[in-house]
Amino acid sequence: MLSEKIRKKFEATFDKKPLLVRSPGRINMIGEHTDYNEGFVMPAAIDKEIICAISPNYNNKCTLIAYDLDDEYEFDITKYEKSEKGWPNYILGVIEQFQKRDMEIRGFDCVFGGDIPLGAGLSSSAALECAFAYSFNHMFDTSLSKLEIVKLAQAAENEFVGVKCGIMDQFASVHGKQDKVFRLDCRSLDYEYYNMVLSDYRLVLCDTGVKHSLASSEYNTRRQECETGVAILQQYHPEIKSLRDASVELLEKYHDEFDDNVYRRCKYVIEENDRVLECCDMLKKGDLEGFGENMYKTHEGLSKEYEVSCRELDFLYEKARNSGMVIGARMMGGGFGGCTINIVKIERLDEFIGHMTGAYEDELGLELKTYIVKIENGTGKI
Ligand code: GLA
Repeated sequence: MLSEKIRKKFEATFDKKPLLVRSPGRINMIGEHTDYNEGFVMPAAIDKEIICAISPNYNNKCTLIAYDLDDEYEFDITKYEKSEKGWPNYILGVIEQFQKRDMEIRGFDCVFGGDIPLGAGLSSSAALECAFAYSFNHMFDTSLSKLEIVKLAQAAENEFVGVKCGIMDQFASVHGKQDKVFRLDCRSLDYEYYNMVLSDYRLVLCDTGVKHSLASSEYNTRRQECETGVAILQQYHPEIKSLRDASVELLEKYHDEFDDNVYRRCKYVIEENDRVLECCDMLKKGDLEGFGENMYKTHEGLSKEYEVSCRELDFLYEKARNSGMVIGARMMGGGFGGCTINIVKIERLDEFIGHMTGAYEDELGLELKTYIVKIENGTGKI
């Protein structure tokens, strides 16, 4: 087992017993690119995770061992800089946030590893940040609430790593619950759990293998386009603070003032928020097929209006939708690569995986990885 491997490596290296923390990756059922527009999302934590074995060492020296990368990084807790290696920055960013809040972090030893595929859009970075934020909070008695851990981890990503992500990924990693998705209001941060026991279906992710780069300018451009849209509407309706407050009718009324891209971005976001709320009602009624139909609409919107898809994602979406083996499919996450998420009929599961893998190979000459995921609990001690 993964946690056993990490624990053993820690004990063999540091000759003491660690605190063991698990922090999961996430899926998002629906509500894409809505979090930074103060809208609604519906994520869940999954059975792919980061495991962190960690212990204080009572000096200023910190040793980080990245088990899967077979790499190591040492630094002084009182003076550190952004690392060119990349991966230590997620942890350094978390330390910086504690220090910014005047919370003392002392030296520690750590081994971490995991099975969240990197760059697949399953938020391995959020899982890593939340694993460390949780561990420090526990080891150094800083009494942060779950929500404070989420916000601190998001700030680490925004400020130190330099990716202007919304709050969804960190929130999902920390607040996940077994067999439940939740609807998060990204303005008030209220959330509500919904049962997602899929007796007749399985959730399957199809990984394009195309590495998405969120730091890429496109993510930030989309944020800006949404802000531009809000600024136009605000001239007439000062009460509109974000796209969350706008309706398609209102957007239509001022259509002429919008450049075509900005108009389509805003339309997508407004409609996506409505779809998430509809999906909540559908889940209450047990209408999974209606839910799946909305997933198709989300994909179409992300691909044609928001324009964050790519050839491989569109290919996997079309293949799945036309296969007769799924009731819902769409690209998931920030876009430009990563995975599609599919609700697959349980009796067609193997057939579906074979069909998709074969088509990806035959038609695009690419190797497809697939993951059958389960919905699991959020960040916590093992
Ligand atoms: C990435 C970001 C999230 C969210 C999604 C798109 O995963 O980290 O905050 O914006 O993209 O829904």
